[in-house]
Amino acid sequence: MSLEQTYLRNLHNRPHDILGIAMASDKTFYIETFGCQMNAHDTEKVIGTLQHQGYRLVEHEEDAGLILYNTCSIRDKAEQKVYHRLNQYKHQHRNGKRFAVLGCVAQQEGDKIFARAPFVSLISGSASYRKLPEMLSRLEAGETRITGLDELQTEETFETEFTARQNPYRAYITIVEGCDKFCAYCVVPYTRGHERSRSSASVLAEARRVADQGYTEIQLLGQNVNSYRDPEAQRSFAELLAEVGKVSGIRRVRFTTSHPRDFSRDIVEAIDAVPVLCDHVHLPVQSGSSRILKAMNREYTRESYLERISWINAARRPISISTDIIVGFPGETAEDFAQTIDLLAEVEYDCVFGFKYSGRPNTPALHLIDSIPEAEKVTRLQVVLDRQREIQRVNYARHLGQIMEVMVEGLNPARGQVIGRSSQNIPVNFTCSQLIAPAPGSYLQVTIIATHPNSLVGVAV
Ligand code: 5AD
Ligand code: SF4
Repeated sequence: MSLEQTYLRNLHNRPHDILGIAMASDKTFYIETFGCQMNAHDTEKVIGTLQHQGYRLVEHEEDAGLILYNTCSIRDKAEQKVYHRLNQYKHQHRNGKRFAVLGCVAQQEGDKIFARAPFVSLISGSASYRKLPEMLSRLEAGETRITGLDELQTEETFETEFTARQNPYRAYITIVEGCDKFCAYCVVPYTRGHERSRSSASVLAEARRVADQGYTEIQLLGQNVNSYRDPEAQRSFAELLAEVGKVSGIRRVRFTTSHPRDFSRDIVEAIDAVPVLCDHVHLPVQSGSSRILKAMNREYTRESYLERISWINAARRPISISTDIIVGFPGETAEDFAQTIDLLAEVEYDCVFGFKYSGRPNTPALHLIDSIPEAEKVTRLQVVLDRQREIQRVNYARHLGQIMEVMVEGLNPARGQVIGRSSQNIPVNFTCSQLIAPAPGSYLQVTIIATHPNSLVGVAV
């Protein structure tokens, strides 16, 4: 058994030991996750919920009585991927296997899924996961048309004490669910529903719990963490960040995603004041053209975005900035696109996620003419990636010779390297003379000796 597996096993057995749940069960399930970190974390909560209901997680579809797909529909034809997956395994339905489709495609497609894949028995969007125990009971009673799709306007969140964390070194904690921003291209308000924040007391209690379990890194999650509103104590997001940073045993706190409109200066002040808040902000800009930003309903301009960047750059320690870019939004001219490319150089991002615009069901942008031909989108995306590669090369070269604190995430035996990440969220792969490989979640000082396009290379001090 590998180090990572041992670590995972120790980590995961703990909650069951505490709850005294029998590990052997004839109710088995397999779950596969598509999409973002929110989805990955939802899966952790769903696994915990199923385990509490007496189900046992298995590694392969073949061994599972219940197969769940936690799906994503943020871009392209993500739903096609799910149908493809379902088709691969549908013959197993005859062996009594049950199928469930969870997440954004489930919410978006609704019971159309039953028509296309009649062997599916349960469909649920993330806003209805609180009802999973009840839905599972109905499934066990033999029902085959169970839906959880009506909760989009809920004020409630999916909080569960049964979260079965799958990540050995990073504890995800949801602080905001859903989104009320309604960017013209984005499906999230229609798949994850109304924005609702958890109380800071409950977030802090979870932070203390994960610290007790041995986690040292926390990532706070929300579609728009900056619009966090404490429903009880009226703590702002920056105050919550600072409080999480003070939890004993926590060495790194990350947060994602920030929306530029709601990104306030006190977040930078919190990073200045609390050393464990990571030197990294992900601030998706989407476009460098104020005209396109307006069409996207982003509620900020190029200038106000750059003002926020200047706040971040004025922090006492250097803060790494990353972003998301959409190319080929309807009506994006060559001039608009040139402004995006120009912005990349102006901000000097450390990392850029670039996407070709794709029309999504229910979104306002779907009514605009998708005017940019696919080939042009491909070209623009390539221009973004090429320009960013050059910017990153220069940025990363500045780290040569520096000693960085790196948290170990895993091993790459083929290369004899340890895989880790800096506080700035830059992947750092390094060699280490220790005989026993460092465990995931441990921290080492590493001297940076070389750079790759998307990572740094180092040697443990
Ligand atoms: N088309 C292309 N990219 C999109 N994103 C969200 N919706 C779309 C869409 N319809 C991108 C945005 C967002 C990231 C998570 O996905 O850049 O920040
Ligand atoms: Fe995908 Fe968005 Fe749903 Fe995450 S919230 S799974 S990115 S559609």
